[in-house]
Formats: sequence, C-alpha cells, structure tokens
Amino acid sequence: MTERTLSIVKPDGVRKNLVGAVIGRFEKAGLRVVGLRMLSITKKEAEGFYAVHRERPFFQSLTSFMSSGPVAVMALEGEGAVKKVRDIMGATNPKDAAAGTIRKDFADSIESNIVHGSDASDTARFEIAYFFNSLEIKDRG
Ligand code: RTP
Ligand code: MG
Repeated sequence: MTERTLSIVKPDGVRKNLVGAVIGRFEKAGLRVVGLRMLSITKKEAEGFYAVHRERPFFQSLTSFMSSGPVAVMALEGEGAVKKVRDIMGATNPKDAAAGTIRKDFADSIESNIVHGSDASDTARFEIAYFFNSLEIKDRG
C-alpha cells in the first residue's frame, strides 16, 4: 500500500552533517520525498509533537534535546513507507540496532539517535499535518 510517513533528522543528525546521508538512505530504498523543511522548533512545539510521551520519564529531556538546534523534517511516500523508514532507522537504542541501520551507524545514545520516524499510518497523518501546511503538501490526510 502506498502511504506517507514523517521523518525528522534530529538536532544531533544536523550537527553531524547527516541530513544528506539520511535522505539518501530513504531515497535508495525507493521512498520519495514529498515534503522537506529545515525548522528550529521551540520546547513547546516539541512537547506538542511528542505529546503521547508526556507521562514518560524522558519527556523533559527529549523535548529539550529536540529544541536544541535545527532539524530537517520530511514527509516520505512509498509502498509500506512507515515500516520501511523504521527498518532503515533501526531500534531506538543504537546498542540494539541492527547492522547497516542509521542508528547503528551514526547514533550516540538512546536519546541522541539521529532520526525520527512515525510509528503508524494514523500517527503519520497527525505528524505531517503538524509540520506541513496545505500549500506545502496537498491532501495531507
Ligand atoms: P522516534 O519516535 O523518535 O522515531 O523514536 P522511537 O519511536 O524509536 O522511540 P519512542 O519510544 O517513540 O521514543 C521517542 C524518542 O524519545 C527518546 N527516548 N529516550 N532515555 C530513554 O529511555 C528514551 N527512550 C526514548 C529517543 O530520542 C526516542 O527516539
Ligand atoms: Mg516513536
């Protein structure tokens, strides 16, 4: 099924000059970039984006990290895009990530893990609409 997902090159990925490498891995897997923005999000905006995690012990640290520098936000489209992106990213903790994944190759820790990817199609709809307006991506739903 052709679907869309949202990915973010997190502040550590931008600081390490990995924007192109991350996008390259997605494109090589057959995913198409349908939206792309560089943003510096505030802590409040990060809290809204990660609202599902607000009760977690790592919420304050995560949202501070996500607002610590510019991020590259993209919407990707393709066959099974949600799972494809998560497979290419690897496990949340780079120590557990499979060989050849972005997090295994580049991430320093469970928090500074380079990249975000939506975890389901409905989450992806919320996340794409969070960052892209209707001029930037048509038919965001
Ligand atoms: P993401 O949402 O960023 O794509 O990552 P994910 O699905 O693999 O992991 P999730 O459970 O959704 O957690 C979101 C982000 O929070 C940070 N985190 N820190 N200190 C910790 O135990 C911890 N656990 C998660 C990571 O940056 C993770 O990507
Ligand atoms: Mg997640």
